[in-house]
Amino acid sequence: MVDTTNLIPNTPRYLKVPLIAFNTILWVLGLVLVIIGSIGVSFFSNFKDFTKVSKASAALSNLTTGAPAGVLVIGIFFVILTVIGCFVAGKEKLVGLVIYTMLMLIILVALIGVGGKALTLHNDDVVKQIGNAWEDVSNGPKNSTILKLENFLKCCYWNSTSSRNPLLCPKDSKGIPKYTDTCDSVISSKISSNLYLVGAAAVSIGVIEFICMLFALFLIIRICRAPRTKSYDYQ
Ligand SMILES: *[C@@H]1O[C@H](CO)[C@@H](O)[C@H](O)[C@H]1NC(C)=O
Ligand SMILES: *[C@@H]1O[C@H](CO)[C@@H](O)[C@H](O)[C@H]1NC(C)=O
Ligand SMILES: *[C@@H]1O[C@H](CO)[C@@H](O)[C@H](O)[C@H]1NC(C)=O
Repeated sequence: MVDTTNLIPNTPRYLKVPLIAFNTILWVLGLVLVIIGSIGVSFFSNFKDFTKVSKASAALSNLTTGAPAGVLVIGIFFVILTVIGCFVAGKEKLVGLVIYTMLMLIILVALIGVGGKALTLHNDDVVKQIGNAWEDVSNGPKNSTILKLENFLKCCYWNSTSSRNPLLCPKDSKGIPKYTDTCDSVISSKISSNLYLVGAAAVSIGVIEFICMLFALFLIIRICRAPRTKSYDYQ
């Protein structure tokens, strides 16, 4: 068997400092997720009535409510966990480090699940799903929700080939359409940039998180191999 003892630095500082540095980076990335998640939650809150009256309500609600809320929750979790990580690393708390490493592992698994879904969830699919709901709500009795959405998004009609009910396009007092963009392009541009940001943040977080777990594991082994003395505790 290979003796790994010498592979781990003898000075805990060499493990602590990178661990704290990586946790700081993760904290910033967590904050990015919190910000994008919040933007998504507030943007899609305007879709609530529209989602409720659409036929594909459950699927759409997963997309417009579940997805941004999920990003927000994971972000908040990261912001908290990384602060704890810096603390337990700095103080070399053995139990804290073990709990921190386990929580990181759980989040990594969750992140891989979410990331896998995000990778298969293309911008076009999201837009198409909203588009289908848009058409059926436009032709239904609750079509006023469409007008509300159009005023929020500043757009008129879904796309160039969608149904053209003149009542469903916001007009000014002279009867001229207020907006020239179609709604699919407005939604598409709003979603795609944020989807890329979330994807990039998630991939970076996954990689850095893995490195963090290695350093935390090494630090745990180091602490266990060299039992702390009293003087060390009060260093
Ligand atoms: C929406 O999410 C719930 C819970 O995650 C899930 O059970 C359901 O199958 C999803 N619905 C659709 C249509 O994707
Ligand atoms: C317009 O939107 C509908 C509904 O999503 C879609 O089926 C159709 O292909 C779109 N047309 C164009 C030109 O994008
Ligand atoms: C829109 O809804 C109103 C009632 O709210 C209804 O009278 C009208 O026919 C609807 N328009 C279409 C195109 O279904």
